[in-house]
Amino acid sequence: MKFFIDTANLDQIKEAQDLGVLDGVTTNPSLMAKEGITGKENILNHYKAICEIVDGDVSAEVIATDFDGMIQEGEALAALHPQIVVKLPMIKDGVKAAKYFSDKGIKTNVTLVFSAGQALLAAKAGATYVSPFLGRLDDISTDGLNLIAEIRQIYDNYNFETQILSASVRHTMHVIDCAKLGSDVMTGPLSSILGLLNHPLTDIGLAKFLADYKKGN
Ligand code: E4P
Repeated sequence: MKFFIDTANLDQIKEAQDLGVLDGVTTNPSLMAKEGITGKENILNHYKAICEIVDGDVSAEVIATDFDGMIQEGEALAALHPQIVVKLPMIKDGVKAAKYFSDKGIKTNVTLVFSAGQALLAAKAGATYVSPFLGRLDDISTDGLNLIAEIRQIYDNYNFETQILSASVRHTMHVIDCAKLGSDVMTGPLSSILGLLNHPLTDIGLAKFLADYKKGN
């Protein structure tokens, strides 16, 4: 299972990278705005800075919502750095654009996916990644994990190569549940990765080992 971090914050990306478990980064326009990164030039430079920190795929989202605009923007993004994955919204022109980029060998991430039907279309279009937003479904009292399970079943039935990138992960239990369901990737905040470290018995056990060592030395 790949671990992506869902942020545009360079310090947090560095921290996850330093831990040695990071496989990539996802961003979106809201995450960029949260870091105060505005204006086309600054945004493009920020993507390059992210690519210099991590070894894996970095999703960069298009703003255009029409086919021609998505192609123009996506090609410019892909040309920025070999690690860039063009992130496209799950709308009609986004599906067409995913097919266009897939035919050209450019990686894509189809985002804002909330149903199995949408995920099926993304796979048919040859998307590299599909991003079901499980946290946002949970937010409206709908079982987000059930969507991940449905997509896993459908993709396995037909050996679709599109990777399930469970997105909108909010906490450690989402990460564990996604792993149990066979999600290929999860993307979440740094806290959802670091939280996996925690267990009181680890802390108690380590304190005892160190105390016993001191007794004999
Ligand atoms: C995915 O790529 C999105 O950036 C993200 O996971 C959305 O998460 P949120 O619902 O916590 O904003």
